[in-house]
Amino acid sequence: MAEEINPAPRLLMGPGPINADPRVLRAMSAQLLGQFDPQFRAYMRETMELYRGVFQTGNRWTLVIDGTARAGIEAALASVIEPGDRVLVPVFGRFGHLKVEIAKRCGGDVRAIETEWGTVFGSEALAAAMREHRPRVVAISHGDTSTTMAQPLADLGRLCRDHDALLYVDATATLGGMDLPVDAWQLDLVSAGLQKCLAGPSGSAPLTLNERAESRILRRRHIEAGLKRPGEKDGEGPIIRSNYFDLAMVIDYWSDKALNHHTEATTMLYAARECARIVLAEGLPHAFARHAAASQALCAGLAAMGLKLFGDQRHKMPNVTGVHVPAGVDGEKVRGALLDHFNIEIGTSFGPLHGKIWRIGTMGYNARKDAVLTTLAALEAVLAAQRHKLARGAAVDAALAAYGAT
Ligand SMILES: Cc1ncc(COP(=O)(O)O)c(C=O)c1O
Repeated sequence: MAEEINPAPRLLMGPGPINADPRVLRAMSAQLLGQFDPQFRAYMRETMELYRGVFQTGNRWTLVIDGTARAGIEAALASVIEPGDRVLVPVFGRFGHLKVEIAKRCGGDVRAIETEWGTVFGSEALAAAMREHRPRVVAISHGDTSTTMAQPLADLGRLCRDHDALLYVDATATLGGMDLPVDAWQLDLVSAGLQKCLAGPSGSAPLTLNERAESRILRRRHIEAGLKRPGEKDGEGPIIRSNYFDLAMVIDYWSDKALNHHTEATTMLYAARECARIVLAEGLPHAFARHAAASQALCAGLAAMGLKLFGDQRHKMPNVTGVHVPAGVDGEKVRGALLDHFNIEIGTSFGPLHGKIWRIGTMGYNARKDAVLTTLAALEAVLAAQRHKLARGAAVDAALAAYGAT
């Protein structure tokens, strides 16, 4: 007989997932409702309105996809990429490669451009790629947790409009932790997940799309035979190749038509609604400043231990920090000791960075002074045990000073 689930009280300081805000966990313990119950439909409408606030948009179609963050990516790309469409993907980390792979599965003629991990694209490189490839769709990450870098996006929307391309942005790592004004930056489709700066569990992907994206999606609208009313016509565009991630059907389901699609993951909707409610109650500028403060304090503490930060620091995300594993130190042993002795999880890394850097998250519910100080104190003890030379106590002092608390 398996025992009751009773997880260790970990402090999750990796690149996500992080510890959920207790209010989100409480919302998730609420009883289920049917998805067409008037009370549940009101929760859905409230969720749409709350995420309009989080995405800083007036977009009518602002909703959540049931599934992890990549469900949002897949729904966006499957719904706007028609077979043969040219798709430009600027890759600055692992999650750029993910969008290349998904766009190919959607039948796109994918053109990837790459920059070294730890850097981002300059505006001239993006403009040159647009001129060269003339894409119909551009898909890019805002922040890539694999490299901890954030791509400046303020001008890309206008550039895409000048080339009549749709711009999709993967904001999984940044939504709620960094400014991302969807309307002001002219982003056509944006999706995210809950498990990073939004302080929830993974399993729900908030997504917003504007009228430019909507018109491209609705011309591909095909209603399932079992739901079609007499005389109802399909769109003239090619059918979206995924049923589950067909945004035309998902829109019909979220609209007042309430056309049946999937059975709603009601518990995840409660979670998504609570995540948005919490971040808006805090205020977006305050949430961004809290992430920035945690990042500055963590970086000050790491520097005080003699550790070197990874990547172009001008473009580092405030919610994840890459730090080089120092010479002579076994990175995996350090992670193991943090977990065994302190119940603290930090991240390893992928691809070319595997084994070379740790990734430490300060995001969502864990972008807090006590979480940063505890992590630094524990890391210091573990590194000292590995004979890494450091001044004991300096890391916590430096972090406290960064918080202005000395
Ligand atoms: C930028 C980015 N995109 C996509 C994903 C994939 O998210 P999920 O694992 O929730 O599908 C992640 C996860 O770390 C991410 O950081």
